[in-house]
Amino acid sequence: MCGIVGYVGPRPAAPILVDGLRRLEYRGYDSAGLAVHSPSGIEIRRAVGKLRNLEGLLFERPLEGTVGIGHTRWATHGRPSEVNAHPHVSGDIAVVHNGIIENHVALRRELKADGFEIQSETDTELVAHLVQREVRRGKDLLGAVLETIARLQGAYAIAVLDHARPDRIVVARASSPLVVGLGEGENFCASDVPALLPYTREMIFLEDGDVAVLEADRVQLFDVRGETIERPRRHIDWSPAMAEKAGYKHFMLKEIFEQPRAIEDTLRGRLDRTSGDIFDQEIGLDEERAKAIRRVVFLACGTSHHATIAGRYWTEELAGIPAVTELASEFRGRNPIVGEGDLVVAVSQSGETIDTLVAAREAKKKGATVLAVVNVIDSAIARMADAVFYTHAGPEIGVASTKCFTAQLANLLMLSIWLGRRRGHLSAERCRELVEALASLPQQMQETLQGTRQLVANLAKRTKDARDVLFLGRGLSFPIALEGALKLKEISYVHAEGYAAGEMKHGPIALIDEHVPVFVLVPEDDQYERSFSNLQEAKARDARVIAVATSGDEAALDQSDDLLEVPRTLPQLTPFVTVLPLQLFAYYVADFKGTDVDQPRNLAKTVTVE
Ligand code: M6R
Repeated sequence: MCGIVGYVGPRPAAPILVDGLRRLEYRGYDSAGLAVHSPSGIEIRRAVGKLRNLEGLLFERPLEGTVGIGHTRWATHGRPSEVNAHPHVSGDIAVVHNGIIENHVALRRELKADGFEIQSETDTELVAHLVQREVRRGKDLLGAVLETIARLQGAYAIAVLDHARPDRIVVARASSPLVVGLGEGENFCASDVPALLPYTREMIFLEDGDVAVLEADRVQLFDVRGETIERPRRHIDWSPAMAEKAGYKHFMLKEIFEQPRAIEDTLRGRLDRTSGDIFDQEIGLDEERAKAIRRVVFLACGTSHHATIAGRYWTEELAGIPAVTELASEFRGRNPIVGEGDLVVAVSQSGETIDTLVAAREAKKKGATVLAVVNVIDSAIARMADAVFYTHAGPEIGVASTKCFTAQLANLLMLSIWLGRRRGHLSAERCRELVEALASLPQQMQETLQGTRQLVANLAKRTKDARDVLFLGRGLSFPIALEGALKLKEISYVHAEGYAAGEMKHGPIALIDEHVPVFVLVPEDDQYERSFSNLQEAKARDARVIAVATSGDEAALDQSDDLLEVPRTLPQLTPFVTVLPLQLFAYYVADFKGTDVDQPRNLAKTVTVE
């Protein structure tokens, strides 16, 4: 996630901006830059990589001004490079931006036709040109920003400088965070509270559609029509460590609760709700290729592997294409049969996992087309692949993957729908139904998190001393059972098994007694009846049964010891909601046990070594 900082006041701006950016480093970034008003114009410094590279540049070529904006970039449009780093400039205007502009293709076309030369691959540069065009047409800076945001679709937090108004910064937000810091004779803005804590604890949290003009001695707030508005001033007493985690105790918990936002960002610009379809442009494949695919081979490790099991089921059902899922570590080096006609989908949060990288490389060498589904822009797997379909979950800091898992599910479901539609397997009506259900997911995930948090915390307290825990699920709930078990193992060190519920009587049922908590996933789907029988089998053997069921399921309430309810959705979408209470369960057990939740023993976030 990008980070924005702005300063207007009497002090040299550059050190305050760099310090603020450093305090936002936890958000992750690949490049950084500053723009500061100087007597000769707005001066820019940008550098790829860590902040120390930007500091080196500032040492050689200092920026002397007292009003400026800074940015750390987590690439979404365009690879990490100096030319794509922010701030972006158009004439006298400089802009930093956090978010994703959905209508960037149309805006780029329009600006080019209007004679603008576009230097970078970013959507942000387009914002700078739009503001500049309005200034040229006679608008003042505030008016130009208001006109510009009326043209933007998607998510943004922007901060804008105009050489003609060196006394101010204009900021605006929609769906991306922005906070204004109120000082004495100086004012600030930032994407997040930690950047501002050393300077002020008096803050205003901007809301969607808010625009603010920051000067040294005042802050004015406006709505999208330019009418003056007021927002409450808040005193923040968080410690810097708490602020980084937005008040959550651990990054993992913060990331669990970020999932509605991560899914919204991942779906943004991909769902065509007018025609009830998935847009072509971001999938990375063309229609001809979609039609030529004979088989889909999913490659991944760990949690990403679990996402691919759902991906496989969706591909078979919705796209009508034979599909297999392989652990990348088992696929590589065994000379598997793969080649032309195969679409290899390599799924990885980091885009750097060595097994997935090597396996996908081997498949590509044998003639398969490789599509990467990765979260980190321009990572090794993204670079080696023929095409990339990015998840937009933002950086994930907890070693245990949570928000990137559900974002991977979102991409794999969109891919299956897109393939099914292009190949004529999926009817327009069904496609529209799925697209609408996807659009409702962020809200339903939010409800699930809020509705189950306390229940799960209580359950975790009661069951934290269990030696073994079982997770059972069928169909799309099978990968969720595996994921629930992996989460628990990883961070709480409790032995857990995820099983296909139908396999229970082939062995694991022998484990069950009154000491073994058994989670049974029984959302309303095509497997409901049979999954429910498994729940009863566990109950009959005295297990403590925890049902994860669709809200209002009386039978599940009756037959289980604990019931965790999830909202009703299409059967194909149940994994997005059923996984949430399992992530919370793993988190709370680990927290009660006092383990190192964010950095569990023996584990690395990215496994780049053999
Ligand atoms: O970055 P990747 O998605 O390729 O990582 C794969 C696994 O290492 C990863 O999912 C691992 O299992 C996580 N710790 C799960 O929480």
